[in-house]
Amino acid sequence: AGAVSCDNTLRRAARRAALSRSRGRGKYELKINENYKNLSESYLFSTIAKKVAVYTQQHPEQEIIRLGIGDVTLPLAAPVVDALHAAVEEMGKKETFHGYGPEQGYGFLKQALMRYYARRGVVLAENEIFVGDGAKSDIGNILDLFDVDNTVLVPDPVYPVYVDTNVMAGRRIVYAAATRENGFLPMPQADVQADLIYLCSPNNPTGAAYSRDQLQAWVDYANERGAVLLFDAAYESFITDGDVPHSIYELPGARTCAIEFRSFSKKAGFTGLRLGFTVVPKDLMCGDVQVRSLWARRHGTKFNGAPYIEQRAGEAVYSEEGSRQVMEQVAYYKRNAMVIYEGLKEAGHTVFGGINSPYIWLKVEDGMDSWEFFDYLLEQANVVGTPGSGFWPSGEGYFRLTAFGTYENTVEAVSNLF
Ligand code: MLT
Repeated sequence: AGAVSCDNTLRRAARRAALSRSRGRGKYELKINENYKNLSESYLFSTIAKKVAVYTQQHPEQEIIRLGIGDVTLPLAAPVVDALHAAVEEMGKKETFHGYGPEQGYGFLKQALMRYYARRGVVLAENEIFVGDGAKSDIGNILDLFDVDNTVLVPDPVYPVYVDTNVMAGRRIVYAAATRENGFLPMPQADVQADLIYLCSPNNPTGAAYSRDQLQAWVDYANERGAVLLFDAAYESFITDGDVPHSIYELPGARTCAIEFRSFSKKAGFTGLRLGFTVVPKDLMCGDVQVRSLWARRHGTKFNGAPYIEQRAGEAVYSEEGSRQVMEQVAYYKRNAMVIYEGLKEAGHTVFGGINSPYIWLKVEDGMDSWEFFDYLLEQANVVGTPGSGFWPSGEGYFRLTAFGTYENTVEAVSNLF
């Protein structure tokens, strides 16, 4: 009892001190980043999660099938789990314990990644690879290197992170409409000047993927203009078509204009582990400044490296058996994509994507807008998807479904749908 009363006395004193501090705050005129006021109220997937939470509270008896956010459902592959266990054991022994690691990532993982790229004819140096905690973070963090006066080009519809992170910085954004007419793959326009250009192929949300010639046109355009391509290859492992490059560096000229982002989330189910990497080639220069050295400098100051145990797990993804098992998981999700794609097509709907991608892009019929269709699906079929307009205006009239559910749920969702 003595301890409790003592505790309360301390808490009361702390509260009094905080209160008197907060009374004085006004006179310091702390300024927030006003750009945050230009963001939508909440991040797309948080808005969806809130809507679903309200619905499930009101209808606790309904089983909801979640095909909204692209979160995986299969557990980690056995070689990945074994690598995690082994690394944990190492961390528990004096002789094999690891403290701070190299902030750009361990050599063993970078060597495995270099071997993977080499099989596609892409030669990377170890210090061009930066291991991080996922593509989303790096896609946001890379903007530290570029002046706020640069103009940014994003496709529309777009993965919201590209827009939000630039809005936060107050950068000017121009949009390249990805429409049914251009196969959801906008191409460079001579009259549009942009300094930073985001490309995502295979694309989130539309599932479309650039061919070799199309990507080459972007590389040439960026080199001519002195622009930088921010190439998001998070869905690379879903590529089926031989003519779709897996890495931007398969294209001549890309080393002088492109940064590539990769994720372990969709390839190997690391959404809950967090691991990714970014490639910044030494040949990418802005004037006489090497962009790679700026990113290395930023990494050194703001990041202490991804956890050792996760990097060991990442290495296992690229081992022979690890690759075989993760590609089996990708094949499982690709089968789901086909279940959705074919099911909707047979029911007379207009669908895109799903072939080189875990995302199916469905045309909303019946004069509903995409949020109305979201409510309709949730209420009538108990299926959660993502409204196209959540990915910016050209997404209106479309709806995204993900193939990352379980096979059984995917089959059920399609049969509930129509
Ligand atoms: C998505 O659903 O668009 C992705 O899962 C989000 C992400 O990768 O951050």
